[in-house]
Amino acid sequence: RLPTPDSRFPTPDSRFPIPGLRAPGSAGATAVTLRDRVPYNERLHARATGPAMDFSFTEEQLLIQDVARRIAQDKIAPSAEHHDRTGEFPLENIRTLGENGLMGIEVPHEYGGAGMDPIAYVLAMIEIAAADAAHSTIMSVNNSLFCNGILKFGNEEQKQKYVRAIAEGREIGAFALTEPQSGSDATAMRCKAVKQADGTYVVNGKKSWITSGPVAKYIVLFAMTDPDKGARGITAFMIDTARAGFHRGKTEPKLGIRASATCEIEFADYVVQPDEVLGREGEGFKIAMGVLDAGRIGIASQAIGIARAAYEATLAYVKERKAFGAPIGTFQMTQAKLADMKCKLDAATLLTLRAAWMKGETEASGGRFSTEAAVAKLTASEAAMWITHQAVQIHGGMGYSKEMPLERYFRDAKITEIYEGTSEIQRLVIA
Ligand code: CAA
Repeated sequence: RLPTPDSRFPTPDSRFPIPGLRAPGSAGATAVTLRDRVPYNERLHARATGPAMDFSFTEEQLLIQDVARRIAQDKIAPSAEHHDRTGEFPLENIRTLGENGLMGIEVPHEYGGAGMDPIAYVLAMIEIAAADAAHSTIMSVNNSLFCNGILKFGNEEQKQKYVRAIAEGREIGAFALTEPQSGSDATAMRCKAVKQADGTYVVNGKKSWITSGPVAKYIVLFAMTDPDKGARGITAFMIDTARAGFHRGKTEPKLGIRASATCEIEFADYVVQPDEVLGREGEGFKIAMGVLDAGRIGIASQAIGIARAAYEATLAYVKERKAFGAPIGTFQMTQAKLADMKCKLDAATLLTLRAAWMKGETEASGGRFSTEAAVAKLTASEAAMWITHQAVQIHGGMGYSKEMPLERYFRDAKITEIYEGTSEIQRLVIA
């Protein structure tokens, strides 16, 4: 039953009158809708009067979730231990993900992607991350940090040139913002791009912790073009790693997500052509932040996938493992841990789906969803760390052993509290 109108919860129109908005079809009516004119938070409030929440997924969203789940179970999970142990880049699996649309989920068909929405992206990322976090790291950089940024800020030629190969998984993309001396404080970058008389730019400097750097064909690079302007002096460029002046440093040995290759890169008089500028000169910081808003939804999804894998493994284990004459799942201390794991997992999932929904809602208007993305990433990454910690604890010695994947989940979870903005930075963004 729908609630009856209640004066304590005024309708959107009476509480938020929209100046100049006429009823559709009336003289002088414009195409402006309530959605365009009323801020998100107010709409949420206004919707409290009706059946506003619909938790069902569309057929398309369920379809891509199913595709991702099958690839995760058939191809990724069986080799996850091998990739973690050896650190070998899973190129063949990445190709399979690309062939099935998972490297460009939100990329329109005309640029080689699956043409789906941000919620589909979240559902697919969770499935892949539950099988192996390293695969989902590579997937998230291709999807959110690379394709998403070019689709949002690139021109038609750039979309045609760079997005298709990455969305189809034939090539790998990367995103270069961090430097040895600047991580959270991204505007403190030293990598410089100096404009020449002919309109080209000459780039010099170093970038560090570049996910997929060792294998990337193209990189979205952020460099200082006008150091006096701080955040407004940063410009985004498209880099072709096959060109002269681009160099890779050593691949970083890491605690977790070991099959996702990470390295330092260096530019020595690398020449960027004028048509390789992404967006406009000086817009780079806003592009980086906008792209990271989308990226943080991907990392939240990754964290949920890792946490879900740890939770499900624990749920099975407590039914099998006996102590003091009974399965350990019959003990209240274990049950309390499982209940808390479940609450954190559900909260993280719902907040991440909300952020993805919000991203979809603001797509046309260009509005921001920074807070929702930061809330999702912070909640999900801290949930993943806590849940994997408890999962190892409940498994005891077996949780600490490499015979089971629990210790891998624990190691993999940690990065979600660090990259694409640490938990401290997420709190700063939210505050
Ligand atoms: N969208 C659009 N514009 C934004 C924005 C966003 N999300 N966030 C900030 N801006 C704009 C501001 O409006 C402001 O614009 P004006 O100059 O016009 O007013 C401008 O950018 C500067 O904003 P701030 O003054 O807030 O910037 P700040 O220097 O104080 O920094 C910060 C803010 C939140 C700390 C930011 O630097 C940040 O997020 N740091 C973390 C960086 C990060 O996440 N790094 C991860 C590395 S990438 C990675 O991990 C990838 C990987 O390999 C997987």
